Amino acid sequence: MASAISNTVLDIDRIRAEFPILHRETQLGAPIIYLDSAATSQKPRQVIDIMSRYYEQQNANIHRGIHRLAEEATQSFEEARNKIAHFINANSSKEVIFTRNTTEAINLVAYSWGRANLQAGDMLLLTEMEHHSNLVPWQMLAAEKDLHLEFIPVTDEGLLDWTAFEHFLLREPRLVAFTHMSNVLGTINPAAEMVSLAHQAGALVLIDGAQSAPHLKVDMQTIGADFYAFSAHKMCGPTGIGVLYGREKLLASMPPFLGGGDMIRRVHLRSFTPNELPHKFEAGTPAIAEAIGLGAAVDFLESVGLEKIHQHEQLIVSYALERLEEIPGVVVYGPRPEKKGGVVSFKLDGVHPHDVAQLLDTVGIAVRAGHHCAMPLHERFHLPATTRASFYLYTMEQEIDRLVEGLYKVKEIFS
Ligand code: ALA
Repeated sequence: MASAISNTVLDIDRIRAEFPILHRETQLGAPIIYLDSAATSQKPRQVIDIMSRYYEQQNANIHRGIHRLAEEATQSFEEARNKIAHFINANSSKEVIFTRNTTEAINLVAYSWGRANLQAGDMLLLTEMEHHSNLVPWQMLAAEKDLHLEFIPVTDEGLLDWTAFEHFLLREPRLVAFTHMSNVLGTINPAAEMVSLAHQAGALVLIDGAQSAPHLKVDMQTIGADFYAFSAHKMCGPTGIGVLYGREKLLASMPPFLGGGDMIRRVHLRSFTPNELPHKFEAGTPAIAEAIGLGAAVDFLESVGLEKIHQHEQLIVSYALERLEEIPGVVVYGPRPEKKGGVVSFKLDGVHPHDVAQLLDTVGIAVRAGHHCAMPLHERFHLPATTRASFYLYTMEQEIDRLVEGLYKVKEIFS
């Protein structure tokens, strides 16, 4: 039952038919309205099915056995890696390291590259809009190695302060680490331009792509980052699996992260020789079914088209901003729709965001409230918390209308 805006770019009914959970009814007998895709996305049938099929027909450990099941499982796992390399246009599947999630991918770089390459007094340049996962690993490393952290400020509009960025680059940071898309403001940072300037200043670049890889076409050749991290569960895939893309030469020069099985070529009692890429960074039995699930998620997203997904979300976010700004007492944070993805964080005067989210839940609407793992960004805007609605390829304009009706009800209750 989709209407005009929702069907402009995508066949929304067909897309929604692929997601079983979107047909689950709430206690009110109406379908759930899921506006929390920035926290985790819903999963299409083909991802759910491929994981069940793996357990029903292929389950075995990989890279070890020489029996048929082990060979099939290994092949499916490595096929998934190839699909991901193709999806992000990496030079080779050796540049795709499976991790648990974006957080682990960033920690891998901090621990492995950071500990081996940084010295006391070195500067790392981050931004005020980072998720805790792109702050805390660097804080931990800075404390251990006596590094200097600097932060690109965020303007009132929710953009990075470009003059400050250029100014910090003159001080020759060793690494610039920033989010491609803010999980609170929705701001899409000009990644390729930032990478180019950072490289000219002699820095390496790590990008947190947790919110961008699911929604935008991310091409490693165009963006040019040294490291790019993302999670499967925000892009129609399962939880428990993420990706660190790294340039092959750089990854090859880095020491291993975790030690154990699979990451070694040889082990003696007092020494070991690390395995080749990508296995050097994948100690222990990995999340096999989840990697295969991520491969299926990538197939699904590619069959719809990332450009179309982005266009659809732009229409939905424009509509959401227009409707939310009609409501007296609502203040929305972040830039205008052209510069943002499908994330809208707001406050409703006089009502705590947790109360907003709880009352919306009573009418079947799922949003997130809190600091969204970005406390410093909330401090920047003098906010303890916000309510966040976030969208994906299955979001319809009627769901925005229901959100707006819900917010009017919240206002009535608190008036
Ligand atoms: N990082 C996720 C979010 O923003 C969990 O909700």
